Amino acid sequence: MSMNIPTPHIEVKDKGVIADTVLMPGDPLRAKFIAEKFLENVEQFNSVRGMLGYTGTYKGRKISVMGSGMGMPSIGIYSYELYAFYDVKRIIRIGSCGAYTEDLDVYDVLLVDEAWSESSYAKTQSGYTSDTTYATPKLNDKLANIAKVLDIPVKRGKIHSSDVFYRQDFNVYKNIRDQYGCMAVEMESFALFANASILGKEASCILTVSDSLVKGDVTTSEERQNSFVKMMEIALEMAE
Ligand code: HPA
Repeated sequence: MSMNIPTPHIEVKDKGVIADTVLMPGDPLRAKFIAEKFLENVEQFNSVRGMLGYTGTYKGRKISVMGSGMGMPSIGIYSYELYAFYDVKRIIRIGSCGAYTEDLDVYDVLLVDEAWSESSYAKTQSGYTSDTTYATPKLNDKLANIAKVLDIPVKRGKIHSSDVFYRQDFNVYKNIRDQYGCMAVEMESFALFANASILGKEASCILTVSDSLVKGDVTTSEERQNSFVKMMEIALEMAE
């Protein structure tokens, strides 16, 4: 598809304003929080639909951060526009997830290698028929290495990207965990990885456990906004 910038959902007119690496939290206010707390020389490049995007420097290196919204249609639109029309090279989703296994506690940090989904996103988008999409292995190895250097424990593996937050049958998660080997659930990675793959770009996802479906632990939205700093510090090191 050929399209000019600005795109329907991103208003900045100069491609160069957006860095090669974009961090994407789901919540645009979390993007604002990251820009204000961690970045210098901050420039806001988007506010269309309140989907705030910023570019700045982290330890003197350029990086952007922008909200993705919730769910695969939303991250599908924003990541496609960033990759295809703004020449962004890599997107690292930084999000929250619900734990499917006893082994995970709230605030654990996960590095996602694979996303399983019942979503039709990839099939509709490109004819891709597998139910699993993959993070970029080289990028994940870099992120794992950064985590090691920062002494932040991360668990690597497969997660469930779901289209539904409120299921009629809560217990369905147990089948998905046992049948597909998913350790946690979120709602975006499958589509992000699908877009990166068809466009020849890099993608990864780091998640902080915000709640446990097994143990019933939950965090408040304020804690989510303010305490997910470890995950952010790993991703911010990808600034160049
Ligand atoms: N389900 C889906 N997405 C999520 C959850 C959940 O329980 N927690 C955080 N993101």
